[in-house]
Amino acid sequence: MVSPDLLSRYGGNLPRYTSYPTAAQFTGDIGPADADAWLRAVPTGAALSLYLHVPFCDALCLFCGCNTAVMRNPDGRAAYGALLIDELSRVAERLGPGRPVSHVQWGGGTPTTLPPGTLRQVMQTIRRLFSVEDSAEIAIELDPRYLPDDYPPLLGALGFNRVSLGVQDLDPEVQRACGRIQSHAQTADCIRRVRDAGIRSVNIDLIYGLPHQTEQGVGDTAASVAALRPDRLAVFGYAHVPWKQKRQALLPAPALPGPADRLAQRARIDAVLRRAGYRAIGLDHYARPADRMALAAEAGTLRRNFQGYTVDPASVLVGVGASAISAFGPGLTQNATTTAAYARLLADPERILPVVRGVRRTAQDRLRADVIEALMCDLRADLADIARRHAAPDDCFADAAPALGQLAADGFVTLDGPVIRVTEAGRPFLRTVAALFDAYRAPADVTRHAAAI
Ligand SMILES: C[S@@+](CC[C@H](N)C(=O)[O-])C[C@H]1O[C@@H](n2cnc3c(N)ncnc32)[C@H](O)[C@@H]1O
Repeated sequence: MVSPDLLSRYGGNLPRYTSYPTAAQFTGDIGPADADAWLRAVPTGAALSLYLHVPFCDALCLFCGCNTAVMRNPDGRAAYGALLIDELSRVAERLGPGRPVSHVQWGGGTPTTLPPGTLRQVMQTIRRLFSVEDSAEIAIELDPRYLPDDYPPLLGALGFNRVSLGVQDLDPEVQRACGRIQSHAQTADCIRRVRDAGIRSVNIDLIYGLPHQTEQGVGDTAASVAALRPDRLAVFGYAHVPWKQKRQALLPAPALPGPADRLAQRARIDAVLRRAGYRAIGLDHYARPADRMALAAEAGTLRRNFQGYTVDPASVLVGVGASAISAFGPGLTQNATTTAAYARLLADPERILPVVRGVRRTAQDRLRADVIEALMCDLRADLADIARRHAAPDDCFADAAPALGQLAADGFVTLDGPVIRVTEAGRPFLRTVAALFDAYRAPADVTRHAAAI
């Protein structure tokens, strides 16, 4: 049991640290010219990860914090595919021909809203412009309620080998409050169809902290879903950011669980999934012991990027599509957020790339990013080793010592000289531990990030 005192001290609003610096540090000072230079400077032979964002859904879920909109017109959906192809060509022109790609991830939104012929064209373009490695993971997010019959065979034929599907919660009252009605049968049927199409790896997303959720209810959902034997699960704490995502204001706020209930729900799901044979990974993932993600976590090779946790070793991530983020050695860039603005920038002859903001990484950022990524992925960071690798002074993290000491006294970390280990009790508070190394953190700023648990 975590005491109310600990919850009030550690339950603040924090980033998810899918990058460092985080997107909160992006500014308009970084633009297309930086993206152009950073693409051209990617070392030859370095494998890339590609992310393609499709912001369309067939229906909007009230809890959703992602960049999504409903686009019913199939011509509009196909036109978006043409924009992706245009941007991919501009990216490839700057990188040079035949760059190796180790990972292709389609996210959204719901990328399976693209007409089948459009998805095929974009995948063919990727294979023409880049050299997709035989061992590459090719993954896509889908919505079990709206997966057209012809899609699973298409995904199999195009080489997709992993799908991620949203479930969130199976309780009808929770589903009604969230505007997402999805039966267990729809989820089971979707998994059967993608597996029949030869797609080996299936991930399911769950959320706790939604309106009307209870400990018992989320435990029942986790048990039903685990019985479907997905390879992985992502268990997200609901991020309530109505100041940023207006649709969330339509949720019944009084029915939102408080911090102690959220923590209890998280713990119940964790217990159910571990009992069902899953390994806990990082902040919010679970995988079967033989899954590549579980093996990577064990081997210390797990990585964190804008999609969450990944086994992909590529150090360059190129994001394509509206709002997509790219990560290069020198910095991070983001495309225009809305589809209209993204299309406008691609049509502008003066604009070479649809990038509108980003951040340049300093040596200090890279040092701190390594500590934060180690904590988020391995639940362990050797501060002396990381400082040495960055040629930083031994005492460069001395300012974090008092707070680390407090976290150790509270049982969330153990300290062995310069080595921090996050305990199981500390796992739900991983972002709190990581935040000690975030030089941009403004503790009082509650309007930028969602609650840390
Ligand atoms: C980009 S969405 C794609 C979901 C997929 N299109 C579907 O409908 O099943 C990926 C996942 O983000 C998670 N998610 C979305 N909004 C969230 C929020 N506000 N807080 C926590 N997780 C959220 C959900 O678990 C969701 O399945």
